[in-house]
Amino acid sequence: MYFFIKSYGCQMNSYDSQRMADLLTEKGHSAVDEPEKADIVIFNTCSIREKADEKLFSDLGRVKTLKDLHNGDFIIIVTGCVAQTRVQEIMKRAPYVDIILGPQDIQAVAEKIDEHLHSENVLVSTSLGAEDKFNRLTAGFHNRKVSEFLTIQEGCDNFCTYCVVPYTRGREFSRNVADIVAEAKKLIAAGVKEIILLGQNVNSYNGTDENGQRHNLSDLLFTLAELDGLKRLHYTTSHPKDINESIGRAHRDIDILMPFLHLPVQSGSDAVLKKMNRKYTAEKYFECIDMLREYRPDIAFSSDFIVGFPGETDEDFQKTLQLVERVKYSQAYSFKYSPRPNTVAAKMDNQIDEKIKSERLSILQDLLNKQQTQFNESFVGKYLSILFEKEGKHKNQLVGRSEYSQAVSVCANNINIGDIVRVKVTEAVSHSLLGTIE
Ligand code: SAH
Ligand code: SF4
Ligand code: F3S
Repeated sequence: MYFFIKSYGCQMNSYDSQRMADLLTEKGHSAVDEPEKADIVIFNTCSIREKADEKLFSDLGRVKTLKDLHNGDFIIIVTGCVAQTRVQEIMKRAPYVDIILGPQDIQAVAEKIDEHLHSENVLVSTSLGAEDKFNRLTAGFHNRKVSEFLTIQEGCDNFCTYCVVPYTRGREFSRNVADIVAEAKKLIAAGVKEIILLGQNVNSYNGTDENGQRHNLSDLLFTLAELDGLKRLHYTTSHPKDINESIGRAHRDIDILMPFLHLPVQSGSDAVLKKMNRKYTAEKYFECIDMLREYRPDIAFSSDFIVGFPGETDEDFQKTLQLVERVKYSQAYSFKYSPRPNTVAAKMDNQIDEKIKSERLSILQDLLNKQQTQFNESFVGKYLSILFEKEGKHKNQLVGRSEYSQAVSVCANNINIGDIVRVKVTEAVSHSLLGTIE
């Protein structure tokens, strides 16, 4: 059969989609790039903000029409974080959905399809079994690019009061070192040059080796850095409360570990951070940043921010702006607080008016954009090392990423996807750079 997968969420959600595609490919199914060409449609959903889950229901309405017009079997599958917590609602609002799988049940996708072909019932599996998930994701790696994700840790025990992830992905689970190394080797053999290690809380990674010895993230980075053929390493997302000097040392001593760190702070106000249950203060965050800059002076930072958390005053918001001014980010993501079902913050008093959220978001984004532009402009006339990932819009143009994750476009005949080349930056344009090879 032909299958189409849409990912709605974070990088782990994309990783899960790729692994489902690997499984289905090995079962003899073929990937297509639009639902119109498919007879299996998989929506791999995200629940992080309200907008993400409303999108699912409008997309479902559209594929229902395809299903009605289709001759023969047409299977609609909902997987991921919405599937985990909203089974009843999906069955009620979209009774034509055939299979519902939580984010830690995706490994069952191929067998559920087979089972469905012999059954009329909706098949549901939401077991939250991370260990079983990885043990059963044994398919090979098909169609990989130059830069790919590798999930090393899944689930979250932090219960930030605004966040659904602990409810959708369950408790924190670290994969063991041997499995991660084996997977990294397979990715490298499939042509991957850069691996981005993933975890909801990647820097609290705590996996075991064959002797039952515990390894932290830094240990794992040192181990992976030894692999032949691997050119670049990244890890995301880190929680400031779990940053320690071992990470600083990894950034100092591992040459393929990129000097770029996504370290979400969410807010610059201690009062808001406390209500968010983030377990650090703004001062503690600055200490992390300073420590990491000490070990790796050129390290660049990005972050996530939430504006309009319940009870956030103008003064709190000013503190966020002050924090941004002090840290100076190379890029960042920012969101309006979105109340999520079952979370503590959704029930807090003093929910903030949508209009104020929008105003604050636009002020914050202006500042973050200004910083990103300044960061990018500071490289004009200088050299960056670029890993080329894909073709650009123009003839002979390739697009790659710098050590600091900036997108850089270059026109040249003598470079190939997968090459790492020293590029002279000629111009900074909106959120990317242009360069030449001398
Ligand atoms: N473990 C990662 C989380 C991912 S969610 C982390 O701790 O960073 C990615 C980002 O989405 C979060 O950093 C946060 O900024 C944002 N987010 C999460 N829940 C949200 C909500 N209810 N409303 C708005 N933004 C939210
Ligand atoms: Fe959500 Fe907080 Fe866990 Fe990140 S650390 S996934 S924001 S609960
Ligand atoms: Fe979304 Fe689930 Fe990722 S809620 S952000 S897909 S962990």
